[in-house]
Amino acid sequence: MNTQIDHVNKSYGQGESRSRVLKKISLTIEEGSICCLLGPSGSGKSTLLNILGGIDRADSGRVQVGNIRVDALTARQQIDYRRTHVGFIFQFYNLIPNLTLRENIESGAYLSRHPLDLDEMVATLGLRDHQQKFPNQVSGGQQQRAGIGRALIKRPSLLLCDEPTGALDYQTAKEVLLLLQKINRLYGTTMIIATHNQALARISHEVIRLHDGGVKDHMRNTAVEEAGSLNW
Ligand SMILES: Nc1ncnc2c1ncn2[C@@H]1O[C@H](COP(=O)(O)OP(=O)(O)OP(=O)(O)O)[C@@H](O)[C@H]1O
Ligand SMILES: [Mg+2]
Repeated sequence: MNTQIDHVNKSYGQGESRSRVLKKISLTIEEGSICCLLGPSGSGKSTLLNILGGIDRADSGRVQVGNIRVDALTARQQIDYRRTHVGFIFQFYNLIPNLTLRENIESGAYLSRHPLDLDEMVATLGLRDHQQKFPNQVSGGQQQRAGIGRALIKRPSLLLCDEPTGALDYQTAKEVLLLLQKINRLYGTTMIIATHNQALARISHEVIRLHDGGVKDHMRNTAVEEAGSLNW
């Protein structure tokens, strides 16, 4: 099912320092899409991801992910929602340093009702030869691949990525995009990716531009490109 938000408002701060970050935003993202979220720094990309992921709450408006009304969840239900339905990928990987890459990936399956096969995931990620290493023994790209595996092993219906290639060099960033595209095709996972990398728009089915607290543009891309052939 689709991800849909309706008239979502979000402000931070009080009184004089109060700033409206999201102003009555409405949009629908189709199930199975790769959706790229662009916009200048401070335009609310991370805020929107956090609201969709049940990390933060909108002040008002409706947030629906599949058949779940995320805005109506209690704190307890929010935890369960995050655990069951949402995968997060961050710019700086957030791996657990004293677990191997394999164990880090495995930790994402904890409490999942229907996790993917760990060996298969390790292979899909191209990490077979590195799985017994610790995060500080591998490259940034390999760490990010483990981060992706940890988010995906529980089979989330929604994968939220905040600057997934922000800390990576060109070649490694490209490998990560290739992997995200492969996983989207393999598992049909809906992906929402906040980024400053415009090239991401070309492998996305939908492109949303945020500006000044609103949706400036929502484009459906009819000519999705292969991540392998991207240059930027
Ligand atoms: N917890 C918070 N408390 C106060 N203000 C916040 C908080 N989180 C975000 N903001 C403010 O909300 C605005 C939007 O922030 P957000 O992080 O969503 O932007 P962004 O589009 O992700 O930017 P960037 O591209 O730099 O990551 C910014 O002005 C930021 O300072
Ligand atoms: Mg951000």
